Amino acid sequence: MAKLGTNLDKAAELLRNDELVAIPTETVYGLAGNGLKSDTISKIYMVKNRPPGNPLILHIASVNQLESLVTKIPEAAIKLAEKFWPGPLTLVLPKNNVVPGIATAGLNTVAVRIPSHEMTLKLLSMLDFPLAAPSANLSNRVSPTTAEHVHFQIGKRIKYILDGGQCSKGIESTIIGFKDEIPIILRHGALSIDKIKQVLGKVLTKNDHNSILAPGMAPKHYSPKTRLIASDNIKRTITGLNGLDIVVLTLCPNNHNTLESEISKASLTSNGDLSEAAFNLYDKLFLLDKMNFDCIVAEYVPEVGIGISINDRLRRASN
Ligand code: TXA
Ligand code: MG
Repeated sequence: MAKLGTNLDKAAELLRNDELVAIPTETVYGLAGNGLKSDTISKIYMVKNRPPGNPLILHIASVNQLESLVTKIPEAAIKLAEKFWPGPLTLVLPKNNVVPGIATAGLNTVAVRIPSHEMTLKLLSMLDFPLAAPSANLSNRVSPTTAEHVHFQIGKRIKYILDGGQCSKGIESTIIGFKDEIPIILRHGALSIDKIKQVLGKVLTKNDHNSILAPGMAPKHYSPKTRLIASDNIKRTITGLNGLDIVVLTLCPNNHNTLESEISKASLTSNGDLSEAAFNLYDKLFLLDKMNFDCIVAEYVPEVGIGISINDRLRRASN
């Protein structure tokens, strides 16, 4: 059973010995191992039950390290890295030969980021290899934003969880790839598209550019065990669920006003702040999942800023 702790020397030692360690980041916890060793990376896939076609993100401590992993860095990528690293932004760039094919699921590109978490940055600086780290959940389940969430899902399968408190962003990094140097958003995440536009002007989304590969973005993902229905009209949705023990999850308590009093209610924030909603989202889903409702009915939040990323997760968690 995994131990929780804050011992960086112990974490580094385990990682140098090709063991896996769960690490905190500002987005979600990652399940980390030596990103340059195929055997260690295959353990990551095993522990998560992750399909082999879903590539991993390499975590590094400095931009210098990036140059040793990729063959080319487009101008736009440099601008983004300068502005947002360390931070919740992942760049997908052409990989070089030191990156094993298993890390990238056979693609000729690799996903890289510098996470913004003091403990993990320190750990990375103690190692002479990047850390491959997908979110530290079982495949398709809710991503962990606390060490306890990690312990609950995969505690039996790993030795150590570095406890860095609750992740400050609470939702995964935004992923950007490049097609002929043109930036394309592959996954909406904790860095809002508006902030990226402030640096680059226009960015494309996958809908504008279907040809780019974005594996692992399965329509069903991030799901609690409890059935979840995302809705933009909760009143109408719950009339179809007569007889079920449901809980309604909204952005803020005000949105409950029109619901009958006997329905269980939860909210992501007290005041409707979308960053707070992202911070609380997975934690709330973990909590509600433990309460054995028949169904969670989650209301979509306004489709602006980080709300776009929250709605993306709700859509994928929904069935
Ligand atoms: O915030 C995050 O990004 C967290 C923390 C731990 O850093 N990590 C994370 O990893 O969310 P994961 O494995 O759950 O999601 C990684 C996703 C893949 O599902 C895939 O969509 C994308 O990154 N990806 C990785 N390599 C890629 C590549 N070469 N081309 C396109 N997409 C890639
Ligand atoms: Mg994940």
